[in-house]
Amino acid sequence: MQTLLDRISEETGKAFAAAGYDAALGRTTVSNRPDLCEFQCNGAMAGAKQYHKAPFVIAEEVAAVLNGSGEKSIFASCEAVKPGFLNFRVSPVFLSEFLNAELRADKYGLEKPAKPERIVLDYGGPNVAKPLHVGHLRSAVIGESIKRIARYCGQDVIGDIHMGDWGLQMGLVITELKKRQPDLPYFDPKHSGGYPEEAPFSVSDLEEIYPFASARSKEDADYYAEAMENTHRLQEGDPGLLALWKQIIKVSVADMKRNYKNLDVTFDLWNGEATVNDIIPGMVEKMKADGYAHESSGALVVDVAEESDAKEIPPCIILKSDGAALYTTTDLATIVDRVQKYDPDEIIYITDKRQELHFTQVFRAARRCGLVKPETKLRHIGFGTVNGPDGRPFKTRQGGVMRLETLISEIDESMLEKIRTNPDIPADRQKETADCVAMAALKYGDLSNQASKDYAFDMDKFMSFEGDTGPYILYTMVRIKSILTKYAAEPGARNISSLFAGQAQSALEKSLMLTLARYGEVMQSVYEELAPHRLCAYIYGLCNDFNSFYHETRILAEQDTAKKEAWIALLSLTLGILNDGIWCLGFSCPERM
Ligand code: ARG
Repeated sequence: MQTLLDRISEETGKAFAAAGYDAALGRTTVSNRPDLCEFQCNGAMAGAKQYHKAPFVIAEEVAAVLNGSGEKSIFASCEAVKPGFLNFRVSPVFLSEFLNAELRADKYGLEKPAKPERIVLDYGGPNVAKPLHVGHLRSAVIGESIKRIARYCGQDVIGDIHMGDWGLQMGLVITELKKRQPDLPYFDPKHSGGYPEEAPFSVSDLEEIYPFASARSKEDADYYAEAMENTHRLQEGDPGLLALWKQIIKVSVADMKRNYKNLDVTFDLWNGEATVNDIIPGMVEKMKADGYAHESSGALVVDVAEESDAKEIPPCIILKSDGAALYTTTDLATIVDRVQKYDPDEIIYITDKRQELHFTQVFRAARRCGLVKPETKLRHIGFGTVNGPDGRPFKTRQGGVMRLETLISEIDESMLEKIRTNPDIPADRQKETADCVAMAALKYGDLSNQASKDYAFDMDKFMSFEGDTGPYILYTMVRIKSILTKYAAEPGARNISSLFAGQAQSALEKSLMLTLARYGEVMQSVYEELAPHRLCAYIYGLCNDFNSFYHETRILAEQDTAKKEAWIALLSLTLGILNDGIWCLGFSCPERM
Protein backbone atom coordinates (compact mmCIF):
# COMPACT_ATOMS: atom_id res chain seq x y z
CA MET A 1 0.00 0.00 0.00
CA GLN A 2 0.97 3.61 -0.45
CA THR A 3 3.14 4.94 2.38
CA LEU A 4 1.76 7.64 4.63
CA LEU A 5 4.03 10.35 3.24
CA ASP A 6 3.23 9.36 -0.33
CA ARG A 7 -0.47 9.49 0.45
CA ILE A 8 -0.18 12.92 2.07
CA SER A 9 2.12 14.24 -0.64
CA GLU A 10 -0.33 13.09 -3.28
CA GLU A 11 -3.08 15.10 -1.63
CA THR A 12 -0.88 18.17 -1.27
CA GLY A 13 0.34 17.76 -4.84
CA LYS A 14 -3.25 17.80 -6.09
CA ALA A 15 -3.82 21.05 -4.24
CA PHE A 16 -0.69 22.59 -5.79
CA ALA A 17 -1.96 21.51 -9.21
CA ALA A 18 -5.45 22.89 -8.52
CA ALA A 19 -3.87 26.23 -7.61
CA GLY A 20 -1.95 26.20 -10.88
CA TYR A 21 1.43 24.91 -9.76
CA ASP A 22 3.53 21.84 -10.35
CA ALA A 23 2.13 18.89 -8.37
CA ALA A 24 5.67 17.72 -7.56
CA LEU A 25 5.97 20.71 -5.21
CA GLY A 26 3.57 18.91 -2.89
CA ARG A 27 6.23 16.62 -1.45
CA THR A 28 5.53 16.54 2.27
CA THR A 29 7.74 15.36 5.12
CA VAL A 30 7.37 14.67 8.79
CA SER A 31 7.59 17.92 10.69
CA ASN A 32 10.77 18.72 12.51
CA ARG A 33 8.72 20.96 14.81
CA PRO A 34 6.18 18.53 16.28
CA ASP A 35 5.04 21.30 18.61
CA LEU A 36 3.75 23.24 15.59
CA CYS A 37 2.48 20.53 13.27
CA GLU A 38 2.69 16.88 12.29
CA PHE A 39 3.75 17.28 8.66
CA GLN A 40 5.19 20.05 6.61
CA CYS A 41 5.60 20.94 2.96
CA ASN A 42 8.18 23.40 1.72
CA GLY A 43 7.00 23.30 -1.89
CA ALA A 44 5.93 26.93 -1.94
CA MET A 45 9.45 27.99 -1.03
CA ALA A 46 10.85 25.83 -3.79
CA GLY A 47 8.30 27.11 -6.35
CA ALA A 48 8.75 30.81 -5.62
CA LYS A 49 11.55 31.36 -8.11
CA GLN A 50 9.93 29.33 -10.88
CA TYR A 51 6.59 31.17 -10.57
CA HIS A 52 8.00 34.60 -9.67
CA LYS A 53 5.75 34.85 -6.66
CA ALA A 54 6.29 35.29 -2.96
CA PRO A 55 6.34 31.85 -1.36
CA PHE A 56 3.78 32.87 1.23
CA VAL A 57 1.31 33.78 -1.52
CA ILE A 58 1.68 30.33 -3.08
CA ALA A 59 1.37 28.65 0.32
CA GLU A 60 -1.81 30.58 1.07
CA GLU A 61 -3.36 29.61 -2.25
CA VAL A 62 -2.58 25.93 -1.69
CA ALA A 63 -3.87 26.08 1.90
CA ALA A 64 -7.09 27.65 0.62
CA VAL A 65 -7.61 24.72 -1.76
CA LEU A 66 -6.94 22.21 0.99
CA ASN A 67 -9.12 23.98 3.52
CA GLY A 68 -11.92 24.13 0.96
CA SER A 69 -12.18 20.39 0.58
CA GLY A 70 -14.42 20.09 3.65
CA GLU A 71 -15.44 16.85 5.34
CA LYS A 72 -13.49 14.58 3.06
CA SER A 73 -10.17 16.25 3.75
CA ILE A 74 -7.38 14.06 5.07
CA PHE A 75 -6.22 17.08 7.06
CA ALA A 76 -7.53 18.37 10.33
CA SER A 77 -5.65 21.61 9.75
CA CYS A 78 -3.59 23.25 6.99
CA GLU A 79 -1.82 26.46 7.66
CA ALA A 80 0.33 28.71 5.55
CA VAL A 81 3.01 30.29 7.70
CA LYS A 82 5.63 32.87 6.88
CA PRO A 83 7.86 32.87 4.95
CA GLY A 84 6.02 30.17 2.97
CA PHE A 85 5.69 26.86 4.78
CA LEU A 86 2.64 24.68 4.84
CA ASN A 87 1.95 23.04 8.19
CA PHE A 88 -0.44 20.13 8.52
CA ARG A 89 -2.16 17.93 11.01
CA VAL A 90 -3.95 14.88 9.66
CA SER A 91 -7.55 14.14 10.49
CA PRO A 92 -8.26 11.39 13.03
CA VAL A 93 -10.71 9.74 10.63
CA PHE A 94 -8.10 9.55 7.89
CA LEU A 95 -5.56 8.21 10.36
CA SER A 96 -7.77 5.42 11.70
CA GLU A 97 -8.71 4.41 8.15
CA PHE A 98 -5.06 4.35 7.22
CA LEU A 99 -4.26 2.11 10.19
CA ASN A 100 -7.20 -0.15 9.39
CA ALA A 101 -5.77 -0.70 5.92
CA GLU A 102 -2.41 -1.40 7.53
CA LEU A 103 -3.97 -3.96 9.88
CA ARG A 104 -5.57 -5.81 6.99
CA ALA A 105 -2.57 -5.73 4.63
CA ASP A 106 0.21 -8.28 4.37
CA LYS A 107 3.30 -7.05 6.29
CA TYR A 108 1.29 -4.09 7.50
CA GLY A 109 1.14 -2.61 4.04
CA LEU A 110 4.82 -2.72 3.18
CA GLU A 111 5.11 -2.36 -0.59
CA LYS A 112 6.59 -5.38 -2.40
CA PRO A 113 9.28 -4.76 -5.05
CA ALA A 114 8.05 -5.12 -8.65
CA LYS A 115 10.88 -7.55 -9.23
CA PRO A 116 12.90 -8.90 -6.31
CA GLU A 117 16.60 -8.15 -6.35
CA ARG A 118 18.90 -11.13 -6.13
CA ILE A 119 21.42 -10.30 -3.42
CA VAL A 120 24.43 -12.30 -2.30
CA LEU A 121 25.18 -11.27 1.27
CA ASP A 122 28.67 -12.01 2.54
CA TYR A 123 28.81 -11.92 6.36
CA GLY A 124 30.17 -13.84 9.31
CA GLY A 125 33.58 -14.34 7.70
CA PRO A 126 35.10 -16.45 10.48
CA ASN A 127 38.55 -17.88 10.07
CA VAL A 128 38.96 -21.62 10.30
CA ALA A 129 41.05 -22.84 13.25
CA LYS A 130 40.81 -19.51 15.03
CA PRO A 131 38.16 -19.26 17.74
CA LEU A 132 35.36 -16.78 17.16
CA HIS A 133 35.96 -13.65 19.18
CA VAL A 134 33.95 -10.57 19.93
CA GLY A 135 35.12 -9.00 16.64
CA HIS A 136 33.08 -11.61 14.78
CA LEU A 137 29.96 -10.64 16.63
CA ARG A 138 29.20 -7.60 14.53
CA SER A 139 29.56 -9.20 11.12
CA ALA A 140 27.23 -12.01 12.19
CA VAL A 141 24.66 -9.86 13.96
CA ILE A 142 24.54 -7.04 11.41
CA GLY A 143 24.62 -9.52 8.52
CA GLU A 144 21.80 -11.63 9.91
CA SER A 145 19.69 -8.53 10.42
CA ILE A 146 20.34 -7.16 6.95
CA LYS A 147 19.48 -10.55 5.49
CA ARG A 148 16.19 -10.60 7.36
CA ILE A 149 15.36 -6.99 6.52
CA ALA A 150 16.00 -7.59 2.82
CA ARG A 151 13.98 -10.81 2.82
CA TYR A 152 11.16 -9.17 4.72
CA CYS A 153 11.13 -6.44 2.07
CA GLY A 154 10.68 -9.10 -0.60
CA GLN A 155 14.24 -9.44 -1.91
CA ASP A 156 15.87 -12.70 -2.86
CA VAL A 157 18.86 -13.06 -0.54
CA ILE A 158 21.55 -15.72 -0.46
CA GLY A 159 23.67 -15.59 2.69
CA ASP A 160 27.25 -16.82 2.42
CA ILE A 161 29.56 -17.18 5.41
CA HIS A 162 32.74 -16.88 3.31
CA MET A 163 35.14 -18.54 5.73
CA GLY A 164 38.82 -17.74 5.80
CA ASP A 165 39.96 -21.28 5.14
CA TRP A 166 42.82 -21.03 2.69
CA GLY A 167 45.44 -18.66 3.93
CA LEU A 168 48.59 -18.74 5.99
CA GLN A 169 46.68 -19.69 9.14
CA MET A 170 46.10 -23.10 7.60
CA GLY A 171 49.80 -23.49 6.88
CA LEU A 172 50.60 -22.47 10.45
CA VAL A 173 48.27 -25.03 11.97
CA ILE A 174 49.54 -27.74 9.63
CA THR A 175 53.16 -26.90 10.45
CA GLU A 176 52.55 -27.07 14.16
CA LEU A 177 50.63 -30.34 13.87
CA LYS A 178 53.55 -31.78 11.96
CA LYS A 179 55.96 -30.76 14.72
CA ARG A 180 53.80 -32.35 17.38
CA GLN A 181 52.69 -35.47 15.54
CA PRO A 182 55.25 -36.08 12.77
CA ASP A 183 54.15 -39.68 12.34
CA LEU A 184 50.67 -38.90 11.12
CA PRO A 185 50.06 -40.37 7.66
CA TYR A 186 49.16 -36.92 6.28
CA PHE A 187 52.85 -35.96 6.34
CA ASP A 188 54.15 -39.13 4.73
CA PRO A 189 54.71 -38.53 1.01
CA LYS A 190 54.84 -42.29 0.42
CA HIS A 191 51.53 -42.92 2.13
CA SER A 192 49.04 -44.66 -0.11
CA GLY A 193 45.41 -45.49 0.48
CA GLY A 194 42.96 -43.49 2.55
CA TYR A 195 43.43 -41.30 5.57
CA PRO A 196 41.85 -41.83 9.01
CA GLU A 197 38.20 -40.90 9.52
CA GLU A 198 38.86 -39.31 12.89
CA ALA A 199 40.64 -35.98 13.19
CA PRO A 200 43.85 -36.26 15.22
CA PHE A 201 42.89 -33.16 17.25
CA SER A 202 39.90 -31.49 18.91
CA VAL A 203 38.61 -27.91 18.63
CA SER A 204 40.33 -27.03 21.87
CA ASP A 205 43.59 -28.37 20.42
CA LEU A 206 43.11 -26.14 17.39
CA GLU A 207 42.33 -23.16 19.56
CA GLU A 208 45.57 -23.64 21.39
CA ILE A 209 47.64 -24.53 18.31
CA TYR A 210 46.83 -21.55 16.15
CA PRO A 211 47.91 -18.76 18.52
CA PHE A 212 50.96 -20.80 19.47
CA ALA A 213 52.01 -21.28 15.84
CA SER A 214 51.22 -17.70 14.96
CA ALA A 215 53.38 -16.37 17.79
CA ARG A 216 56.22 -18.71 16.97
CA SER A 217 56.21 -17.76 13.28
CA LYS A 218 56.82 -14.16 14.27
CA GLU A 219 59.95 -15.05 16.18
CA ASP A 220 61.32 -17.91 14.15
CA ALA A 221 62.05 -17.22 10.47
CA ASP A 222 62.53 -20.89 9.59
CA TYR A 223 59.23 -21.78 11.14
CA TYR A 224 57.55 -19.00 9.19
CA ALA A 225 59.15 -20.22 5.96
CA GLU A 226 57.91 -23.72 6.67
CA ALA A 227 54.39 -22.47 7.25
CA MET A 228 54.53 -20.55 3.96
CA GLU A 229 55.78 -23.65 2.22
CA ASN A 230 52.97 -25.75 3.71
CA THR A 231 50.40 -23.16 2.72
CA HIS A 232 51.72 -23.27 -0.80
CA ARG A 233 51.76 -27.06 -0.92
CA LEU A 234 48.21 -27.19 0.36
CA GLN A 235 47.07 -24.72 -2.28
CA GLU A 236 48.88 -26.76 -4.94
CA GLY A 237 46.84 -29.78 -3.87
CA ASP A 238 49.22 -31.99 -1.84
CA PRO A 239 46.95 -35.00 -1.07
CA GLY A 240 48.10 -35.49 2.54
CA LEU A 241 47.87 -31.82 3.47
CA LEU A 242 44.55 -31.54 1.70
CA ALA A 243 43.18 -34.48 3.71
CA LEU A 244 44.46 -32.91 6.93
CA TRP A 245 42.99 -29.55 5.89
CA LYS A 246 39.61 -31.22 5.43
CA GLN A 247 39.84 -32.52 9.01
CA ILE A 248 40.63 -29.03 10.27
CA ILE A 249 37.63 -27.67 8.35
CA LYS A 250 35.35 -30.41 9.67
CA VAL A 251 36.26 -29.85 13.31
CA SER A 252 36.24 -26.08 12.99
CA VAL A 253 32.94 -25.85 11.08
CA ALA A 254 31.15 -28.02 13.63
CA ASP A 255 32.26 -25.57 16.29
CA MET A 256 31.25 -22.54 14.22
CA LYS A 257 27.81 -24.03 13.64
CA ARG A 258 27.32 -24.39 17.36
CA ASN A 259 28.40 -20.80 17.97
CA TYR A 260 26.22 -19.30 15.25
CA LYS A 261 23.29 -21.37 16.44
CA ASN A 262 23.67 -19.76 19.86
CA LEU A 263 23.36 -16.42 18.12
CA ASP A 264 20.46 -17.53 15.94
CA VAL A 265 22.50 -16.67 12.86
CA THR A 266 22.22 -18.89 9.79
CA PHE A 267 23.82 -19.10 6.36
CA ASP A 268 22.61 -20.58 3.09
CA LEU A 269 26.12 -21.22 1.86
CA TRP A 270 29.12 -22.40 3.82
CA ASN A 271 31.64 -21.43 1.19
CA GLY A 272 35.09 -20.12 1.86
CA GLU A 273 38.19 -18.81 0.18
CA ALA A 274 39.15 -22.35 -0.79
CA THR A 275 35.88 -22.82 -2.71
CA VAL A 276 37.25 -20.75 -5.57
CA ASN A 277 40.77 -22.17 -5.73
CA ASP A 278 40.18 -23.74 -9.14
CA ILE A 279 38.78 -20.52 -10.58
CA ILE A 280 41.93 -18.51 -9.86
CA PRO A 281 44.28 -19.73 -12.65
CA GLY A 282 41.73 -19.14 -15.43
CA MET A 283 40.72 -15.78 -14.02
CA VAL A 284 44.33 -14.62 -13.76
CA GLU A 285 45.10 -15.78 -17.30
CA LYS A 286 42.15 -13.86 -18.65
CA MET A 287 43.13 -10.72 -16.74
CA LYS A 288 46.56 -10.96 -18.30
CA ALA A 289 45.28 -11.76 -21.79
CA ASP A 290 42.84 -8.84 -21.67
CA GLY A 291 45.71 -6.56 -20.72
CA TYR A 292 44.40 -5.55 -17.28
CA ALA A 293 46.93 -7.40 -15.16
CA HIS A 294 50.58 -6.48 -15.55
CA GLU A 295 53.82 -7.10 -13.71
CA SER A 296 55.09 -4.66 -11.18
CA SER A 297 58.19 -5.38 -9.04
CA GLY A 298 57.68 -9.10 -9.64
CA ALA A 299 54.03 -9.15 -8.57
CA LEU A 300 51.02 -9.26 -10.85
CA VAL A 301 48.80 -6.22 -10.35
CA VAL A 302 45.73 -4.46 -11.72
CA ASP A 303 45.80 -0.66 -11.58
CA VAL A 304 42.75 0.72 -9.88
CA ALA A 305 43.62 4.36 -9.22
CA GLU A 306 41.17 6.91 -10.60
CA GLU A 307 41.78 10.52 -11.45
CA SER A 308 39.22 11.77 -8.96
CA ASP A 309 40.85 9.94 -6.03
CA ALA A 310 41.53 12.25 -3.12
CA LYS A 311 44.02 9.82 -1.65
CA GLU A 312 46.17 7.31 -3.42
CA ILE A 313 44.59 3.94 -4.12
CA PRO A 314 47.44 1.48 -4.68
CA PRO A 315 47.22 -1.17 -7.42
CA CYS A 316 45.36 -4.35 -6.55
CA ILE A 317 47.84 -7.22 -6.20
CA ILE A 318 46.58 -10.39 -7.87
CA LEU A 319 49.58 -12.66 -7.39
CA LYS A 320 52.62 -12.15 -5.20
CA SER A 321 56.09 -12.49 -6.69
CA ASP A 322 56.21 -16.16 -5.61
CA GLY A 323 52.96 -16.74 -7.48
CA ALA A 324 50.84 -17.05 -4.33
CA ALA A 325 47.26 -15.87 -4.34
CA LEU A 326 46.12 -13.29 -1.76
CA TYR A 327 42.95 -12.19 -0.01
CA THR A 328 42.17 -9.93 -2.99
CA THR A 329 42.63 -12.84 -5.40
CA THR A 330 40.19 -15.10 -3.59
CA ASP A 331 37.72 -12.24 -3.30
CA LEU A 332 37.90 -11.56 -7.04
CA ALA A 333 37.54 -15.26 -7.84
CA THR A 334 34.59 -15.41 -5.44
CA ILE A 335 32.92 -12.65 -7.46
CA VAL A 336 33.45 -14.75 -10.61
CA ASP A 337 31.93 -17.76 -8.86
CA ARG A 338 28.93 -15.84 -7.54
CA VAL A 339 28.23 -14.25 -10.91
CA GLN A 340 28.35 -17.64 -12.61
CA LYS A 341 26.19 -19.41 -10.08
CA TYR A 342 23.69 -16.78 -9.00
CA ASP A 343 23.86 -13.84 -11.42
CA PRO A 344 23.22 -11.42 -8.53
CA ASP A 345 21.96 -7.85 -8.89
CA GLU A 346 23.99 -6.93 -5.87
CA ILE A 347 26.74 -8.33 -3.65
CA ILE A 348 26.98 -6.91 -0.15
CA TYR A 349 29.94 -7.48 2.19
CA ILE A 350 29.84 -6.93 5.91
CA THR A 351 33.26 -6.63 7.51
CA ASP A 352 35.31 -4.49 9.81
CA LYS A 353 35.64 -1.01 8.31
CA ARG A 354 39.42 -1.36 8.32
CA GLN A 355 38.94 -3.49 5.21
CA GLU A 356 37.56 -0.55 3.26
CA LEU A 357 40.63 -0.11 1.06
CA HIS A 358 40.66 -3.82 0.30
CA PHE A 359 37.08 -3.67 -0.97
CA THR A 360 37.67 -0.46 -2.92
CA GLN A 361 40.50 -2.24 -4.73
CA VAL A 362 38.54 -5.46 -5.23
CA PHE A 363 35.43 -3.68 -6.53
CA ARG A 364 37.39 -1.51 -8.92
CA ALA A 365 39.45 -4.42 -10.19
CA ALA A 366 36.28 -6.49 -10.68
CA ARG A 367 34.67 -3.72 -12.73
CA ARG A 368 37.78 -2.93 -14.69
CA CYS A 369 38.37 -6.56 -15.62
CA GLY A 370 34.70 -7.07 -16.47
CA LEU A 371 34.07 -9.69 -13.81
CA VAL A 372 30.67 -8.14 -13.09
CA LYS A 373 28.06 -6.49 -15.28
CA PRO A 374 28.22 -2.70 -15.10
CA GLU A 375 24.81 -2.60 -13.41
CA THR A 376 25.70 -5.10 -10.69
CA LYS A 377 26.01 -3.26 -7.41
CA LEU A 378 28.94 -4.03 -5.12
CA ARG A 379 28.58 -2.67 -1.65
CA HIS A 380 30.78 -2.82 1.43
CA ILE A 381 29.32 -2.12 4.84
CA GLY A 382 32.22 -1.50 7.17
CA PHE A 383 31.54 -1.65 10.88
CA GLY A 384 33.41 -0.11 13.78
CA THR A 385 35.15 -1.69 16.73
CA VAL A 386 33.52 -3.12 19.84
CA ASN A 387 35.24 -1.28 22.68
CA GLY A 388 35.38 -1.93 26.39
CA PRO A 389 34.32 0.63 29.01
CA ASP A 390 37.81 2.16 28.77
CA GLY A 391 37.22 3.06 25.11
CA ARG A 392 39.80 0.55 23.93
CA PRO A 393 39.03 -2.68 22.03
CA PHE A 394 37.01 -5.02 24.21
CA LYS A 395 39.09 -7.50 26.21
CA THR A 396 38.57 -10.06 28.95
CA ARG A 397 39.27 -9.00 32.52
CA GLN A 398 42.68 -10.59 32.13
CA GLY A 399 43.32 -8.46 29.08
CA GLY A 400 43.04 -11.26 26.51
CA VAL A 401 40.83 -11.53 23.46
CA MET A 402 37.24 -12.17 24.54
CA ARG A 403 35.89 -15.32 22.97
CA LEU A 404 32.42 -14.98 21.58
CA GLU A 405 31.30 -18.07 23.40
CA THR A 406 32.43 -16.70 26.76
CA LEU A 407 30.74 -13.40 26.07
CA ILE A 408 27.45 -15.09 25.25
CA SER A 409 27.51 -17.38 28.26
CA GLU A 410 28.33 -14.48 30.59
CA ILE A 411 25.40 -12.45 29.38
CA ASP A 412 23.12 -15.53 29.51
CA GLU A 413 24.09 -16.18 33.11
CA SER A 414 23.65 -12.61 34.32
CA MET A 415 20.28 -12.49 32.63
CA LEU A 416 19.26 -15.74 34.29
CA GLU A 417 19.96 -14.20 37.69
CA LYS A 418 17.72 -11.30 36.80
CA ILE A 419 14.93 -13.50 35.45
CA ARG A 420 15.00 -15.71 38.54
CA THR A 421 13.83 -12.76 40.62
CA ASN A 422 10.49 -12.78 38.78
CA PRO A 423 8.15 -15.19 40.61
CA ASP A 424 5.78 -15.30 37.62
CA ILE A 425 8.21 -17.32 35.57
CA PRO A 426 8.04 -21.05 36.28
CA ALA A 427 11.39 -22.64 37.10
CA ASP A 428 11.40 -24.74 33.94
CA ARG A 429 11.00 -21.64 31.75
CA GLN A 430 13.69 -19.50 33.39
CA LYS A 431 16.63 -20.59 31.28
CA GLU A 432 14.77 -20.33 27.99
CA THR A 433 13.42 -16.90 28.92
CA ALA A 434 16.83 -15.66 30.05
CA ASP A 435 18.49 -16.83 26.81
CA CYS A 436 15.83 -15.10 24.77
CA VAL A 437 16.16 -11.78 26.62
CA ALA A 438 19.96 -12.02 26.66
CA MET A 439 19.97 -12.43 22.88
CA ALA A 440 17.88 -9.28 22.56
CA ALA A 441 20.25 -7.44 24.91
CA LEU A 442 23.29 -8.46 22.91
CA LYS A 443 21.91 -7.95 19.42
CA TYR A 444 20.04 -4.74 20.14
CA GLY A 445 23.08 -3.39 22.00
CA ASP A 446 25.02 -3.84 18.80
CA LEU A 447 22.44 -3.02 16.16
CA SER A 448 21.17 0.16 17.77
CA ASN A 449 24.52 1.75 16.96
CA GLN A 450 25.14 2.94 13.45
CA ALA A 451 27.26 0.13 11.97
CA SER A 452 30.18 2.33 10.93
CA LYS A 453 30.67 3.71 14.43
CA ASP A 454 32.68 2.11 17.22
CA TYR A 455 30.63 1.39 20.32
CA ALA A 456 31.27 0.53 23.93
CA PHE A 457 30.16 -2.90 25.01
CA ASP A 458 28.39 -2.18 28.25
CA MET A 459 26.73 -5.35 29.46
CA ASP A 460 24.87 -3.73 32.38
CA LYS A 461 23.41 -1.09 30.13
CA PHE A 462 22.47 -3.59 27.39
CA MET A 463 20.71 -5.79 29.94
CA SER A 464 18.69 -3.02 31.56
CA PHE A 465 14.91 -3.23 31.29
CA GLU A 466 14.77 0.54 30.91
CA GLY A 467 16.12 2.85 28.24
CA ASP A 468 17.11 2.19 24.67
CA THR A 469 17.76 -1.54 25.09
CA GLY A 470 16.57 -4.88 23.76
CA PRO A 471 15.05 -5.92 27.11
CA TYR A 472 13.04 -2.68 27.25
CA ILE A 473 11.56 -3.48 23.83
CA LEU A 474 10.69 -7.01 24.96
CA TYR A 475 9.32 -5.72 28.25
CA THR A 476 6.95 -3.45 26.35
CA MET A 477 5.87 -6.31 24.12
CA VAL A 478 5.28 -8.61 27.08
CA ARG A 479 3.14 -5.88 28.63
CA ILE A 480 1.00 -5.68 25.48
CA LYS A 481 0.76 -9.47 25.30
CA SER A 482 -0.44 -9.58 28.86
CA ILE A 483 -3.20 -7.01 28.24
CA LEU A 484 -4.32 -8.88 25.12
CA THR A 485 -4.37 -12.19 26.99
CA LYS A 486 -6.41 -10.69 29.82
CA TYR A 487 -8.80 -9.17 27.32
CA ALA A 488 -9.20 -12.48 25.49
CA ALA A 489 -10.18 -14.14 28.77
CA GLU A 490 -13.01 -11.67 29.38
CA PRO A 491 -16.55 -13.01 28.78
CA GLY A 492 -17.44 -10.50 26.02
CA ALA A 493 -14.09 -10.67 24.21
CA ARG A 494 -14.24 -10.62 20.42
CA ASN A 495 -11.77 -10.98 17.63
CA ILE A 496 -11.20 -7.37 16.73
CA SER A 497 -9.87 -6.38 13.39
CA SER A 498 -10.47 -2.68 13.14
CA LEU A 499 -10.08 0.62 14.87
CA PHE A 500 -12.73 3.11 15.77
CA ALA A 501 -13.39 5.76 13.11
CA GLY A 502 -11.59 8.88 14.22
CA GLN A 503 -10.09 7.08 17.17
CA ALA A 504 -7.21 9.44 18.00
CA GLN A 505 -8.76 10.91 21.12
CA SER A 506 -5.79 12.15 23.03
CA ALA A 507 -2.54 13.65 21.85
CA LEU A 508 -0.63 10.61 23.10
CA GLU A 509 -2.94 8.22 21.31
CA LYS A 510 -2.53 10.19 18.11
CA SER A 511 1.25 10.13 18.47
CA LEU A 512 1.17 6.37 18.77
CA MET A 513 -1.10 6.10 15.75
CA LEU A 514 1.11 8.39 13.66
CA THR A 515 4.16 6.30 14.51
CA LEU A 516 2.32 3.12 13.51
CA ALA A 517 1.24 4.76 10.26
CA ARG A 518 4.86 5.45 9.36
CA TYR A 519 5.90 1.79 9.52
CA GLY A 520 5.92 1.13 5.76
CA GLU A 521 8.08 4.09 4.87
CA VAL A 522 10.48 3.51 7.75
CA MET A 523 10.95 -0.11 6.74
CA GLN A 524 11.54 0.92 3.13
CA SER A 525 14.29 3.33 4.06
CA VAL A 526 15.80 0.88 6.54
CA TYR A 527 16.19 -1.48 3.61
CA GLU A 528 17.42 1.14 1.15
CA GLU A 529 20.06 2.35 3.58
CA LEU A 530 20.73 -1.16 4.97
CA ALA A 531 20.50 0.46 8.36
CA PRO A 532 19.29 -1.76 11.22
CA HIS A 533 20.01 1.09 13.64
CA ARG A 534 17.20 3.06 12.06
CA LEU A 535 14.84 0.15 12.64
CA CYS A 536 15.98 0.08 16.28
CA ALA A 537 15.29 3.80 16.59
CA TYR A 538 11.81 3.34 15.13
CA ILE A 539 11.00 0.42 17.41
CA TYR A 540 12.29 2.27 20.44
CA GLY A 541 10.20 5.31 19.54
CA LEU A 542 7.16 3.09 19.05
CA CYS A 543 7.66 1.50 22.48
CA ASN A 544 7.96 4.93 24.07
CA ASP A 545 4.81 6.11 22.32
CA PHE A 546 2.99 3.00 23.43
CA ASN A 547 4.11 3.28 27.04
CA SER A 548 3.12 6.95 27.26
CA PHE A 549 -0.31 6.10 25.87
CA TYR A 550 -0.61 3.11 28.19
CA HIS A 551 0.18 5.14 31.29
CA GLU A 552 -2.64 7.58 30.63
CA THR A 553 -5.21 5.01 29.47
CA ARG A 554 -7.13 2.46 31.49
CA ILE A 555 -7.72 0.03 28.70
CA LEU A 556 -9.28 -3.02 30.31
CA ALA A 557 -11.33 -0.97 32.78
CA GLU A 558 -12.98 1.05 29.99
CA GLN A 559 -16.78 0.77 30.11
CA ASP A 560 -17.45 1.96 26.55
CA THR A 561 -17.10 -1.28 24.57
CA ALA A 562 -16.47 0.38 21.22
CA LYS A 563 -13.66 2.44 22.67
CA LYS A 564 -12.14 -0.50 24.48
CA GLU A 565 -12.27 -2.73 21.41
CA ALA A 566 -10.63 -0.05 19.31
CA TRP A 567 -7.81 0.13 21.83
CA ILE A 568 -7.42 -3.62 21.70
CA ALA A 569 -7.08 -3.35 17.91
CA LEU A 570 -4.50 -0.62 18.35
CA LEU A 571 -2.56 -2.84 20.74
CA SER A 572 -2.68 -5.77 18.32
CA LEU A 573 -1.30 -3.59 15.57
CA THR A 574 1.47 -2.27 17.83
CA LEU A 575 2.44 -5.77 18.92
CA GLY A 576 2.33 -7.09 15.35
CA ILE A 577 4.64 -4.37 14.09
CA LEU A 578 7.01 -4.84 17.01
CA ASN A 579 7.06 -8.57 16.39
CA ASP A 580 8.00 -8.14 12.74
CA GLY A 581 10.52 -5.49 13.70
CA ILE A 582 12.39 -7.61 16.20
CA TRP A 583 12.29 -10.56 13.83
CA CYS A 584 14.16 -8.34 11.36
CA LEU A 585 16.68 -7.54 14.07
CA GLY A 586 17.17 -11.24 14.75
CA PHE A 587 15.55 -11.89 18.13
CA SER A 588 12.21 -12.87 19.57
CA CYS A 589 9.96 -12.14 22.51
CA PRO A 590 9.17 -14.47 25.42
CA GLU A 591 5.66 -14.79 26.89
CA ARG A 592 6.77 -13.32 30.20
CA MET A 593 9.90 -11.79 31.59
N1 ARG B 1 37.78 -13.75 7.04
C1 ARG B 1 37.80 -12.33 6.89
C2 ARG B 1 38.30 -11.67 8.18
O1 ARG B 1 38.35 -12.30 9.22
C3 ARG B 1 36.44 -11.76 6.56
C4 ARG B 1 35.88 -12.22 5.24
C5 ARG B 1 34.92 -11.22 4.68
N2 ARG B 1 34.42 -11.54 3.38
C6 ARG B 1 35.11 -11.40 2.26
N3 ARG B 1 34.55 -11.77 1.13
N4 ARG B 1 36.31 -10.87 2.21
O2 ARG B 1 38.63 -10.52 8.15
